Amino acid sequence: MTEYEAILSRHSVRRYTPEPVEPEKAEILKKKIDEINEKTGMAISLCLDEPGAFMAEKPSYGSFSGCRNYIVMAARKGDDEAVGYYGEALVLLAQTLGLNTCWVALTFEKGAVPVSIPEGFKIFDLIALGHGQTQGVPHRSKPLERLYKAKEPVPDWFMDGMKAAALAPTAINQQRFLIVYKDGKVSAKALLGPCSKTDLGIVKYHFEIGAGKDNVIWED
Ligand SMILES: Cc1cc2nc3c(=O)[nH]c(=O)nc-3n(C[C@H](O)[C@H](O)[C@H](O)COP(=O)(O)O)c2cc1C
Repeated sequence: MTEYEAILSRHSVRRYTPEPVEPEKAEILKKKIDEINEKTGMAISLCLDEPGAFMAEKPSYGSFSGCRNYIVMAARKGDDEAVGYYGEALVLLAQTLGLNTCWVALTFEKGAVPVSIPEGFKIFDLIALGHGQTQGVPHRSKPLERLYKAKEPVPDWFMDGMKAAALAPTAINQQRFLIVYKDGKVSAKALLGPCSKTDLGIVKYHFEIGAGKDNVIWED
């Protein structure tokens, strides 16, 4: 499965089977996490068979059930956008490995995450991980025209990027972002809303895959 195919098939999954994450898949995820930490200075980690954060021993916890594995997205305060960008790389990698995921900013027990966080860092999100009871369902999306602005005709690669951006997971499915096309260049901004800066990083990652990385030069 390519990353683009992963974008098409990924949906948030909150109910998991007891099947563990296979060791070879965990190794692939760990290797990617190490690479990202090395490149960015983040403190991302993988927790396997840890029932506490989602109270996996209980029949359900909020809308979660059976989640015993997750990625801890810990980074320096202010790194919201990078957390989204690199976390989504891990989400899509997990999808290509046949695993399901869900970004989680709120509905987990922070105190039950067995990870010590360096000074000046914080846990932004967990990414729930495992074998889903289902593959989830597509989210409702705003029409593309409400997610971008352009005063001139846009090329096909831009629309391909927009289609991938609209499939990005965003907190409470709010899609509080705007992508602007001007003079062949693209910029993206987060609008007001909870976690919208993390969402922006996720959306930019999707846009680059849809549009083709070579086409995209982000303007500030
Ligand atoms: C940054 C972020 C935080 C999220 N936090 C939560 C959360 O705390 N609890 C939850 O159940 N879902 C959470 N979600 C999942 C969103 O509700 C979900 O991505 C959105 O509804 C779109 O659905 P989809 O992921 O299936 O496309 C979060 C998503 C993102 C991107």
